[in-house]
Amino acid sequence: EKGGYPHYMLKEIMEQPRVLYETYTGLMSSRELEKAAEILASADHIFVTGAGTSYHAGLVFAYFMARIARRPVITFISSEYLAYRSLDHSNSALVAISQSGETIDTLQAVRSFKSSGGRVVAVSNVVGSTIPRESDTTVYTRAGPEIGVAATKTFLTQVLALTSIALALAVHTGSLTKAEYTEAMRELRNASHAASSGIDRSIRLVELLASSLRSKNNIYVLGRGLGVPLAYEAALKIKEVSYIHAEAYPAGESKHGPIALVEEEFPVIFVGVPPEDELLEKLQSNVMEMKARGASTIVIGTSSYRELEGVDFYIDVGNYSEILAPYAVVPPFQLLAYKLAVMLNRDPDKPRNLAKTVTVE
Ligand code: F6R
Repeated sequence: EKGGYPHYMLKEIMEQPRVLYETYTGLMSSRELEKAAEILASADHIFVTGAGTSYHAGLVFAYFMARIARRPVITFISSEYLAYRSLDHSNSALVAISQSGETIDTLQAVRSFKSSGGRVVAVSNVVGSTIPRESDTTVYTRAGPEIGVAATKTFLTQVLALTSIALALAVHTGSLTKAEYTEAMRELRNASHAASSGIDRSIRLVELLASSLRSKNNIYVLGRGLGVPLAYEAALKIKEVSYIHAEAYPAGESKHGPIALVEEEFPVIFVGVPPEDELLEKLQSNVMEMKARGASTIVIGTSSYRELEGVDFYIDVGNYSEILAPYAVVPPFQLLAYKLAVMLNRDPDKPRNLAKTVTVE
């Protein structure tokens, strides 16, 4: 049932091109996006929540909502909903992201929001699960069942659904013309190809990278812009399946504290994404400040990042626009986490202390 793969995690990583395509066609042939856009368009304030990987997808959503739909979004981790519980939500909308649709923290956030008058758009992979049932409408990912405890294919399908919601809202409110919307949706159809490219271009290199990282105790993962939520997700994946401590933060934060830990051979992975004309030069100085302390510098990014100097190891995922970059950049990190786990004799499908669905607070 693992389709010939030794672990579900690997099978599910490799399935991404197909399930991205299925999610895309599912979105195009339903009215889910329109319904979500209607709810968001009529709200004065938009919130997004989730736990773990789903929260990271929420951060990608907030990024594209600002960039494409020109709407600021308030992001919070679902177990932190208490901060907003006393607000009047009658003119607000909440986007609640949960692969399983059963995570208790996210469900509590949904209930709290509804009880103060808010409307809820769920994003879920499980039809008929609790969070979709209690929400006003649901946008489904069509990733199929995910057996590995670490979320992989569900993350990128969430990103696809959420990016599509941002685009649908943008055309609904006039931030995008109908033609621009059609063009962007046509581009998103290539999410599947971007994921294949990310996998194909990294599968061998990740093996080398994992053998040089397997003996490390700490790894930093740094990004800017869209690269920040992708870095958070990369670090979560590495730590949960390989048990190597990985920490992600916006690259600009280095000199505000974390660089104090950096010494000879400390591995720092940079996530390189568009818009390169705004980010490349800034990332270059972050690479240099790490290099100056003897760090091992690694870049996983689009082809434009080849120009960076002072990089010890580089995985070029191909050149992709901003809306497509996540699908190419994320699989190498998932594969890296997987390889590290296997090399260290850890079961990537069943990390210790973790459950697939967290139904207790
Ligand atoms: C990480 C992971 C968890 C889940 C989180 C939320 O790989 O799987 O962080 O993302 O428990 O689960 P859902 O999306 O089912 O609410």
